[in-house]
Amino acid sequence: MSTSSSTAAERDFKSEFLKIAFILFGVLLICFSIFFVKNHENNNYIIKTLELNGSAEEGDALFKINCVGCHGITARGLVGPDLHSVTQRLNDKEIIKQVTGGLTPPMPSFEIDPVNMSNLLKYLHSLE
Ligand code: HEC
Repeated sequence: MSTSSSTAAERDFKSEFLKIAFILFGVLLICFSIFFVKNHENNNYIIKTLELNGSAEEGDALFKINCVGCHGITARGLVGPDLHSVTQRLNDKEIIKQVTGGLTPPMPSFEIDPVNMSNLLKYLHSLE
């Protein structure tokens, strides 16, 4: 008769518990990796965009194609807000996130390369 060893039921419980903890740890690790890679990609995109010196004319053309439906032909606002002096309210990083992030429906997220994003930024700065 032993007094110190655990019963079979307790051992089962412990090994189940360990299994679940192990799986949870794995899932968390995967989530963190995805988050890290995404974050890293976003940061690279922002850095690349901010290094470029865009063209306001190109940005104007892009704006007329993609944005006027909601922000108006002169960017004075329709469904979306007036974008004059938006560059005083938001910094460039925040504007990039606004355009590419799709965080504020109904404004969609735009898949736009750094060159064109930089052009759009230049255009928005020209509205000040
Ligand atoms: C389907 C309509 C729609 C389209 C298309 C759209 N937007 Fe918007 N946009 C919005 C709305 C609505 C908001 C306000 C979101 C909020 O703050 O809740 C907004 C907000 C913004 C803001 C932030 C304004 C502020 O004062 O915080 C910026 C900058 C902006 N849009 C730029 C753009 C650009 C550049 C494009 C084109 C590439 C674009 N938007 C296309 C609807 C749109």
